[in-house]
Amino acid sequence: MSLYRFCKYSVLVGTTTVAGALLFQQRRPTPDWQQVARLEFSRPSYNPAPPGYRGPLFQPRLDFPSTQPRDETFPWLDMDFKTEPERYLLTVRDYCLEGNTECDFRVAENQTRDWYHIPWMSFLPTGREPIHGMTMERPAAPGMLADTQRRRLQTWAVAFYNAPGAFVIGNVWEEPSRPKVDGVVFPEGTVGFKLLFTEGSAEDIPYLTESPVWKAAIAKEPEEPGDRGPLVNMRLIQMDVAVRDERADIGWVFGTFVYHISQCSVAPWRRLVPVCLQWGNDPDLTQQRYQEGARPVQTWNNPRLRDLGILPASRPYLGWLGRANGPVDNFKSCCASCHSTASVPDKDNSVPRPVPPSRPESDGELMRWFRNLKAGEPFEEGRKSMDYSQQLKSSIKQYNEWANEHRPKTLLNRAVVWWQGLLQVRPFPNAPTPPSGNDN
Ligand code: HEC
Repeated sequence: MSLYRFCKYSVLVGTTTVAGALLFQQRRPTPDWQQVARLEFSRPSYNPAPPGYRGPLFQPRLDFPSTQPRDETFPWLDMDFKTEPERYLLTVRDYCLEGNTECDFRVAENQTRDWYHIPWMSFLPTGREPIHGMTMERPAAPGMLADTQRRRLQTWAVAFYNAPGAFVIGNVWEEPSRPKVDGVVFPEGTVGFKLLFTEGSAEDIPYLTESPVWKAAIAKEPEEPGDRGPLVNMRLIQMDVAVRDERADIGWVFGTFVYHISQCSVAPWRRLVPVCLQWGNDPDLTQQRYQEGARPVQTWNNPRLRDLGILPASRPYLGWLGRANGPVDNFKSCCASCHSTASVPDKDNSVPRPVPPSRPESDGELMRWFRNLKAGEPFEEGRKSMDYSQQLKSSIKQYNEWANEHRPKTLLNRAVVWWQGLLQVRPFPNAPTPPSGNDN
């Protein structure tokens, strides 16, 4: 054998051995590691219940269906969300509330239909509180929720998916320590909904008079989300829904409701009034066109928002240039835009950059956030879409942070972390931020 061929074979054999050893190391996670991952996967909350609390505690429901449920019909799919947005929304609202108001959203006890939670939501300091499993959202600055709101208020929320959605979540999380992130697309009929509670009282926000109250051990200050205090009263303010509907330009219909005392129902949960509905991002609606008088054509807004006091004087619109959004959400974004960014590895970019108001020369860049991406289409090339599911993205982000701390420090794992740093991807940021980001 010539010296040249000898060297070539030595290099080949050497490289294969090293790569094999690295992979072997990777393929054999210690049993401890996987066991701890399983516990963390379903850990109910970040903090324990405060001393003296004797009531029920949050338990996530994670026994996802193993086959795709096909026996349900969805009444809103026979309704036209463009011509009958309120009827569509109220039908979805009642579907979400049915059986859940009776068991106070402890969904394992729901006698009508199955609802599920998302795993891996208790690891970060913004993670689930112990009584209802709520996670911390962006706090509301004074004046954001009502003209009478004088102080900053924390917002906490908990979300649920119906069985068709839970089937997809179960596929991603079949193995609690190894998420499968390829080809995530929810089937039609999937419904996700989220309940948002504020620490504000009816004095801060008059339309919340007699709103349902949950007790929760939330953060003492939003800057230190992990430092949790005693139980406080949180009031229902908003309910969000995301409905997989093929007729929508983005394959999803987003809608929101706000609790309002003026609604005449005796049942407080039925006082959730439809606020807006969105089936696309209005990709052509730039600031310039808005100033020329154009308005969104893929959003329906309740025309009574100002009269109801839901849109305070300090706020020109709920979502960017009149697109759909809730009172607690960032007006620089909108439901569909922010959710279209849900992909992994997460890049902390759910709100448009450059931040609106835009200059005409930066409109091109800004409008990337308002494209009508199809279900399952990633926001950026090279990333995996979580099909508009922000919670699914969050769960993978929390898993990654956990894994970075706990998985065996093999050479390969170190190399992965180093490579991610090099790409300036921030799947494992050191500083905890609220799930929606500081400015979201
Ligand atoms: C700026 C970003 C942002 C905006 C705007 C926004 N959301 Fe979300 N949404 C989130 C994040 C982040 C979560 C996950 C919360 C968590 O991690 O606990 C979420 C969760 C949800 C969920 C639970 C299912 C899921 O996809 O994770 C629903 C339903 C939802 N939002 C609907 C809406 C609706 C409807 C609107 C508009 C009225 C809206 N969202 C506006 C960021 C946003």
